[in-house]
Amino acid sequence: ATAQTQVLVNGYDPQQQISRHIYGHFSEHLGRCIYGGFWVGDSIKVPKQGGIRLDIVDALKKIKVPNLRWPGGCFADEYHWRDGIGPRNQRPKMVNTNWGGVTEDNSFGTHEFLELCDLLQCEPYIAGNVGSGTVEEMSKWVEYLNFDGLSPMTTIRKQNGREKPWKVEFWGVGNESWGCGGNMTPEYYANEFKRYATYARNYPGARLKRIASGANVADYNWTDVCMRNIPAGQMWGITLHHYTLPSGHWSDNKGSATAFEEKEYFTTMKSCLYMETLLNGHEAIMDKYDPAKKVALVVDEWGIWTNVEPGTNPGFLYQQNSMRDALVAASTLNIFNNHCNRVRMANLAQTINVLQALILTEKEKFLLTPTYHVFDLYKVHQDATLLPVQFKSPEYVSGNDKLPAVNISASKDKEGKVHLTIANIDPNKAIPLQLNLAGINFKKVTGQILTSPKFTDINTFAKPDLVKPAAFNNAVASGNTLQVQMPALSVVMLELN
Ligand code: AHR
Repeated sequence: ATAQTQVLVNGYDPQQQISRHIYGHFSEHLGRCIYGGFWVGDSIKVPKQGGIRLDIVDALKKIKVPNLRWPGGCFADEYHWRDGIGPRNQRPKMVNTNWGGVTEDNSFGTHEFLELCDLLQCEPYIAGNVGSGTVEEMSKWVEYLNFDGLSPMTTIRKQNGREKPWKVEFWGVGNESWGCGGNMTPEYYANEFKRYATYARNYPGARLKRIASGANVADYNWTDVCMRNIPAGQMWGITLHHYTLPSGHWSDNKGSATAFEEKEYFTTMKSCLYMETLLNGHEAIMDKYDPAKKVALVVDEWGIWTNVEPGTNPGFLYQQNSMRDALVAASTLNIFNNHCNRVRMANLAQTINVLQALILTEKEKFLLTPTYHVFDLYKVHQDATLLPVQFKSPEYVSGNDKLPAVNISASKDKEGKVHLTIANIDPNKAIPLQLNLAGINFKKVTGQILTSPKFTDINTFAKPDLVKPAAFNNAVASGNTLQVQMPALSVVMLELN
């Protein structure tokens, strides 16, 4: 039998709050995320408000989406907000050059997005256009959104049916400015940030949290230059983008979302867990300039990026979602929780029908992916206090390489309940854990598990509930210890009450 792994959960040493905004999502004008996802107009018969699907809104409310990022992504740096307001049938059209070259008719714009956020009861996170927009354009968008008095922009807003400002706070100043957002150097971008950020004004009751477009993966120099040149007071956060790649690197053949062997499963998980190294690297640089940790690290694009489903538009990034995706989500969220003293916001790419989606749709039908279920299990951590966890993980060995098989995070919520989320990424071994709960008093343990026999298991429209959570009864308490048997390929959430 495998020896038990000793885990210390330290209830005597509560740490930082895990910001709920770590559990944020991302919805770009890309493929069928907005059109055919959130927004169906009159095309199908489902419960709707305006053109927004209410059945999907309900599903997302259940996992407590804290914020939603929009309109991109690369799309943000080609988006001109004034094209997306006013009577829908009079809005100009444009070409979505980044994503399939399709015509964008601007029927989903500022008002529609903010209505969606109202319905989801989440905070909007808008990415402004730096790449092809002007300082004036961004400045006026903020005035349109956030000013309550008489002004040129508020007059237009009122004509368009919205009396009161929305008071949007999360404000991205460009996206991937090193790439699709303008191919800039960090020195050039840092200057541009200051110019755009200066005129993206604070209005009464709406203090902007300005977020700089940060590094691509391990581009530590980008973080360094921005941290050195942008005053902390002007920048609430700086972003980081890292996608999990099945082959471990970018190429036209990224690997299938559904058909892969263990070797590729292993390299996928390795690419996912690399997030830990990246956070340590970027945080060390941020600490150099900002030891008080005022500036947030915002991982506003993460998730697995595979080949598209065969036969679908390559520019639409539609991919299936398997038990492997669930382990990517669970492990990444555990990493974010454990880094919550610097990572205060994150956004999975992307909510519906794009990349690592929570929801897939087929006309009227929709299904919840394994990734959705992870967010459902993990919502207990939102705004709870992190508890440190110490242990040495058993190894998941594949060929000459190895990874930590288990990752864990723990928190205590406002009612005093302690939650642990544990992932075992090893596809071949169950792992017994002994949790030593120092300073944690509880009477009852309950749990839920998300698991499936194969890492390739997926939910389909024929079998939408193949991978879904179930009650977990394999945590046995005695005194202040818990014996937990973690099945291979599993995510467990325990509640100690
Ligand atoms: O999420 C898809 C794309 O990936 C985004 O538009 C872009 O920012 C990133 O390269």
